[in-house]
Amino acid sequence: MNITLQVNGVEHQVGIDPGDLLIDTLRENLNLTGSKKGCATGDCGACTILLDDTPVTSCLVLSATAVGKEITTIEGLATNGDLHPVQQAYVDFSAVQCGYCTPGIIMMTVGLLDENPHPSDHEIREGLAGNLCRCTGYSKIMLAVRGAEMTMSEDS
Ligand code: FES
Ligand code: FES
Repeated sequence: MNITLQVNGVEHQVGIDPGDLLIDTLRENLNLTGSKKGCATGDCGACTILLDDTPVTSCLVLSATAVGKEITTIEGLATNGDLHPVQQAYVDFSAVQCGYCTPGIIMMTVGLLDENPHPSDHEIREGLAGNLCRCTGYSKIMLAVRGAEMTMSEDS
């Protein structure tokens, strides 16, 4: 079947099977390989994207159900070559090591701060609980979220 997906502000016509998962369509049909497929069972968060501004694990979303929704992936965050404040904060606070989890954690952080611009530490931990990182120990990720929070509140 052919569907139209709106990804990072651009319409794409894609030929899919009805059972195709959004993570696979993004990576294999559209060559948007920033989102990672870690577990494919909804447990690691590496495939997190925004669907109508809400973070979702794209390995649990059928591509066909994303028709008519705005899909945002890590590739769509930067504007005019400038990193999104959340991306910049992850760089500035060295919250990236192997980087496998990073696109998903950044997308989750964007969703978290959009919904709650000044979260408590508990709310950050709870918000990122579904995103696993085997490298950083999470303390630098916490600092990066705080850094992004400060930049975004200065900008608003
Ligand atoms: S690949 Fe989707 S949650 Fe792990
Ligand atoms: S930076 Fe390696 S898994 Fe998170």
